[in-house]
Amino acid sequence: MKHLLGTDGLDRDTALAVLDTSDRLKQTLLGREVRKLPTLRGRTVITMFYENSTRTRVSFEIAGKWMSADVVNVSAGGSSVGKGESLRDTALTLAAAGADCVIVRHPASGAAHRLAGWLAEAGTSVVNAGDGTHEHPTQALLDAATLRDRVGDLAGKRIGVVGDVLHSRVARSNAHLLTTLGAQVVLIAPPTLLPTRVAEWSVGSGGALEVSHELDAELPTLDAVMMLRVQAERMHGGFFPSAREYAIAYGMNQNRLALLPAHAPVLHPGPMLRGMEISAAVADSPRAAITQQVTNGVHVRMAVLYHLLAGEEDGS
Ligand code: CP
Repeated sequence: MKHLLGTDGLDRDTALAVLDTSDRLKQTLLGREVRKLPTLRGRTVITMFYENSTRTRVSFEIAGKWMSADVVNVSAGGSSVGKGESLRDTALTLAAAGADCVIVRHPASGAAHRLAGWLAEAGTSVVNAGDGTHEHPTQALLDAATLRDRVGDLAGKRIGVVGDVLHSRVARSNAHLLTTLGAQVVLIAPPTLLPTRVAEWSVGSGGALEVSHELDAELPTLDAVMMLRVQAERMHGGFFPSAREYAIAYGMNQNRLALLPAHAPVLHPGPMLRGMEISAAVADSPRAAITQQVTNGVHVRMAVLYHLLAGEEDGS
């Protein structure tokens, strides 16, 4: 694997290899006082975040450090981006400074792909840490890792993805990855928060993608439910339905939790809007897998860095 730009096009064997590596790393580090492996010693990883982040930025930094890489964080605010430097010039500068891998989050869909093109000559790997409304592949991988922990093999499982699908790179990456792993994905949203061209999303050959507007009718059929963040910052023309209407029709609460089969967990990529997307009682209940997702995020990102920067050397 040279880059990780999306889950669209990520084949099943590669996805499973990353997930299996993540599981192995988690087992290796479990209970260790010193969580440090020498695997990426001498490698330089640079994170470049043009949008806010807590989970993704921090877990990539921890992942790199636990694998002994040198990790440098660049934010738009504190860099020469603030003086008007372009994404291309910034990326070429980081490559010239010795980056083996650049991890980028950017508000423009397609930014990570552009970066990979510009850095081809330098041989620098690129990881997409979220580009506009397009993709967030490591989020989907950590969601798949969490679902495997909770419900086992995803083949044949029915997974609901609920809420603001229209603006969600998490929904798109999950739809690609989960169907590639053989799951049936049902996107559940009000018509105003569904993309018009969802039928054109690529679907893994072993799975299926459906659309529904009726959360309560779908809940009893699901093996897991993934609540999405409502992305108000991308809704320049306002928000419909209103926050209150949204919570009534699509918010996860204890009444809805009772409709879910007992084995089905509730996921949320975070940051979550408590009381709107998910009630505090559900978010803090044992049925919620939200902190487990964050923990898996570190191991999945270690696995991604391993497959990008060390995998070929090891012949894996
Ligand atoms: N899920 C997610 O991407 O969270 P952050 O924006 O905090 O990184």
